[in-house]
Amino acid sequence: MPFFATRGRSKANRFAEGGKETDRGCVEDQPQGVGIVHNTGKFKAWQLFVAAAAGLRHSRGPCGLFPSGPGIDTWNAIKNTGALMAEVKTADLMEKIVSLCKRRGFIFQSSEIYGGLNGFWDYGPLGAELKRNIKESWWRSMTQMRDDVVGLEATIIMHPKIWEASGHTSTFSDLMVDCLVTRKRLRADQIEPQSGIVYHYSGARSGATSNEIVQRLLNSDSPEVRAIIEETLREEKEEEKAIETMVSTLSKHPNPELSRHAPLVKQIWQSIHRSEEKFSVLLAAGKPVESARKLAKQFYRERGVDDPVLLAERSEQVQNTTRYNPENGALLTEPRPFNLMLKTYVGPVESEDNKSYLRPETAQAIFVQFKNVLEVSRQKVPFGICQMGKAFRNEINPRNFTFRSREFEQMELEFFIRPDEAIEAIYGSIAKPVGPGHPGEPQPNWGWQLWHQYWVEERFRYYESIGLPRQSLVEYWQKSDELAHYARATVDILYKFPFSKRDEKGELMGEELEGVAARSDFDLSQHQRFSGKPMTVFDEELKPAWSKLPDQKKTELSQSYYEARQRYFSKMGEPPEKADKQARADAEALGKGYYVPHVIEPSAGVDRLALALICNAYGEDQAPDEKGNMESRVVMKFHPRIAPLKVAVFPLLKNKPELVKKALEVRDLLRPEMTVFYDEAGAIGRRYRRQDEAGTPFGVTIDFDTLGEKGPELKDTVTLRHRDSMKQERVKIAELLPTLSKQIRPG
Ligand code: GAP
Repeated sequence: MPFFATRGRSKANRFAEGGKETDRGCVEDQPQGVGIVHNTGKFKAWQLFVAAAAGLRHSRGPCGLFPSGPGIDTWNAIKNTGALMAEVKTADLMEKIVSLCKRRGFIFQSSEIYGGLNGFWDYGPLGAELKRNIKESWWRSMTQMRDDVVGLEATIIMHPKIWEASGHTSTFSDLMVDCLVTRKRLRADQIEPQSGIVYHYSGARSGATSNEIVQRLLNSDSPEVRAIIEETLREEKEEEKAIETMVSTLSKHPNPELSRHAPLVKQIWQSIHRSEEKFSVLLAAGKPVESARKLAKQFYRERGVDDPVLLAERSEQVQNTTRYNPENGALLTEPRPFNLMLKTYVGPVESEDNKSYLRPETAQAIFVQFKNVLEVSRQKVPFGICQMGKAFRNEINPRNFTFRSREFEQMELEFFIRPDEAIEAIYGSIAKPVGPGHPGEPQPNWGWQLWHQYWVEERFRYYESIGLPRQSLVEYWQKSDELAHYARATVDILYKFPFSKRDEKGELMGEELEGVAARSDFDLSQHQRFSGKPMTVFDEELKPAWSKLPDQKKTELSQSYYEARQRYFSKMGEPPEKADKQARADAEALGKGYYVPHVIEPSAGVDRLALALICNAYGEDQAPDEKGNMESRVVMKFHPRIAPLKVAVFPLLKNKPELVKKALEVRDLLRPEMTVFYDEAGAIGRRYRRQDEAGTPFGVTIDFDTLGEKGPELKDTVTLRHRDSMKQERVKIAELLPTLSKQIRPG
């Protein structure tokens, strides 16, 4: 496994991708191409995926995912009826969500009128607001509400050396295999092991041509030639051998009239088109060999062999192989790395020297600007730098709606901390975690473990604060064989998307929303090595503390620091002598107060979070219509903090100027503080329903009571309707702003 393999390709992602979805029939993922979505229908690619996953189309079922959200009974029902039913229902649910996203303008397929571009998505009016709210809430909680984190906004295209230092140029890749028949590209680690019988072929030759030879020879004027051929074919069933025998018999014939046919036979035989490429097909036990032959013939036909005659068929039993395409049994190519970075050229000349990349993550800019930020921000370690923005990855199989896209946004924090040796030197010991959960306010004697735990818990709190219930999230600790060599621990925060795989109990296992990684001092050390610029900080407290340490403690801490640095340099391929020398120098510098900071990295995706919030919000329930009859409604129960629209303002009737005037006054009162949607068209019930689907948490209706027609006590009051409970209350216009602001204010 390459040493960078876990940056961005975490194990948890694999849960997402091992699903049953298929692009077949809708997405053509050309090896070097753009992956055009061939459909003109609405979101057909997704619908086909859903249909494939469910084995069913257009079934209607109940929905809602989590107990705190809508549809609790449904959720219980899903759990109880087992994984298969659950898969059908959640696939159906996902279809509804995708369709709502399009219908209400949350998410559109990119370039839709041209057939779409696979892995790219646009956000419509509601989606754009939702994303803004997500980013604002993250930015606010990460930096504006804290003293110890500052922001950065760097460019998307950066110096290409950055990607060499980070490891992206050489190792940011997935191992890929291609189907030798359909050419579909698959991630090697996503192929489920299969067992069965493999049919091997050593090659094929064109049958049409070989029949032709026989015909031509049989048409020969000479009855002796015809006799020899007929006899040879009778005795030798293997055509290749038969031809050999004919050539030999004819060439040795004493009659020159006959022997002159020998080179002719040889020549025709040699001109037969053949392929010596080996190929094999895996069939499940019991399947007729004809299907293997059919596929093998297709394989050779594509290599220019007309009417292929398969050569040297043999079979063998195999167990748990991942060498065959699970969809058709065809042999796959050997796995080979496919770099995920999108390339471009800077300047007018498209040369290697001008090659650059669209950043595959926002984090690296933080590392390379670390010293600049440190200098200007009056921060000192421990402190963080956060950034959000676009990232690009040429994903092999973009899938699960926006979950795995080729263009997406990240929200990343690099929180720089002291190495544990420095903490120990300053405070005498390192505080140890006392148990699970939030460890409380940061303390100066925290080492990497407590800082890591702190950020994991902070991130869970954040998700809860914007409406994702804790039970919809999973805390997944990467196992030691999943961790990058420099990472000390990584927790993936997963959300139980409807398309997540299920465990044996039928529970959704979740897909990655965010990774929180303790990355040691790897990143800054890499940039120090590659740029030649120091990434060390001087720690004012460390130097005096160190000088007061007993010699034995100094030796112990120096040794521990030396070993860690030595390991790093060796892993990076430095020759032993150089690694030792550099590590000694670093250990010595530690005693003088210098070190390369370590880092904790919480790294989240905006688009995945938007999708999680949409999935979480989706619900269907019953609501009374105009006449009080119950009808079903779709309701997006977004937390008011991230809801795209906060309040809808309705005059009861649009043809009453006094109502309209008052309603516009209310709209203008609220608008400076929140997103307001003004709607005067249609029956009030229908207007409510439209806002329920958009996820607007509050509706304000201006009616005749507002105008004081029923007496002065109701004058200048409005009906405030709550989306989730559908409860209505009478509120004074003067109290509207504080009442609503309280609920939409970021936490
Ligand atoms: N700097 C670390 C890093 O980039 P990552 O796990 O590759 O780590 C962080 O990405 C987050 O970015 C993921 O948890 C996910 O939310 C988001 N992300 C990564 N690849 C994505 C993709 N192809 N489409 C949408 N979001 C993606």
